[in-house]
Amino acid sequence: MTDLMLPLPYRVTARRLEATDTVTLTLAPVGEGIGTWEPGQFTMLYGFGVGEVPISISGGDGGRIHHTVRDVGAVSHALCGTGVGGRLGVRGPYGHGWDPDSAEGNDLLLVAGGIGLAPLRPVLTWALARRERYGRIALLVGARTPADLLYPREYPAWRAAGVQLLVTVDRADAGWGGHVGVVTTLVDQADFAPDNTVAFVCGPEPMMRFTARALGARGVPDRAVRVSLERNMRCGIALCGHCQLGPLLVCRDGPVASYDVAGQLLDVKEL
Ligand SMILES: Cc1cc2nc3c(=O)[nH]c(=O)nc-3n(C[C@H](O)[C@H](O)[C@H](O)COP(=O)(O)OP(=O)(O)OC[C@H]3O[C@@H](n4cnc5c(N)ncnc54)[C@H](O)[C@@H]3O)c2cc1C
Ligand code: FES
Repeated sequence: MTDLMLPLPYRVTARRLEATDTVTLTLAPVGEGIGTWEPGQFTMLYGFGVGEVPISISGGDGGRIHHTVRDVGAVSHALCGTGVGGRLGVRGPYGHGWDPDSAEGNDLLLVAGGIGLAPLRPVLTWALARRERYGRIALLVGARTPADLLYPREYPAWRAAGVQLLVTVDRADAGWGGHVGVVTTLVDQADFAPDNTVAFVCGPEPMMRFTARALGARGVPDRAVRVSLERNMRCGIALCGHCQLGPLLVCRDGPVASYDVAGQLLDVKEL
């Protein structure tokens, strides 16, 4: 157990401010690294002396990993405040990811709310690197304000690669000429064949429920909708029970789950 719980030291090699409260850290292993990972998996990221939290892998290459972290409390604040050259601990990769292989031959619909774009970004990278294996690819992005949009520098490349990218914000500012409203309002504008689509959805739980409902109204069955679940975690490796959601341990059985299973669990408040 000691080894499984022991974080590997990583060094911050780049730090990019994404939004007022969100940064993307590029981490390189100081010695041994965590090895290969799949889109949708997470690590337990440790701010030395502060604490450890689950954070999705938002990208990476050649042993380096990217984590996009929103500052919401003590640990995420310490992570966001770590500068280039600083050290963090990493355990993982953990959990079941999006499994994009199993969606081959289908249209792909990615729906992101806020920080939910972080775990979806590696799926997009994956699918664009294997473009011929998928049908149409649509990405629907929602953020609180234009300043909260993640990775806007990457939008032109995604669009150039043929992704139908639709973006909305809850509150516009003076420079915003785009769509205003919640991300579910974009579902009707997305191009996909409902009976031949796999949807990957990540965001706050109400957003995921409303998105699954909007997709259902367009004819996408719950079994073709996958969501990424969020629960408080301690061990990350199915030992402590902190992340229990009904019969699931989110660290082991998730975070990605099919909505025909997860939807019923998310509807029950006490779970
Ligand atoms: C599988 C998984 C993947 C995740 N991936 C990411 C990721 O890629 N990037 C990322 O930033 N976060 C991610 N999270 C969420 C992240 O783990 C939490 O934000 C973090 O644990 C908060 O810890 P804290 O000590 O900073 O705040 P806490 O002290 O635990 O919380 C401080 C306050 O913020 C509230 N809060 C806690 N979490 C959130 C939240 N997510 N959003 C809004 N308010 C919150 C709490 O209710 C509390 O009021 C992920 C969670 C899971 C389970
Ligand atoms: S975090 Fe400990 S069982 Fe999932």
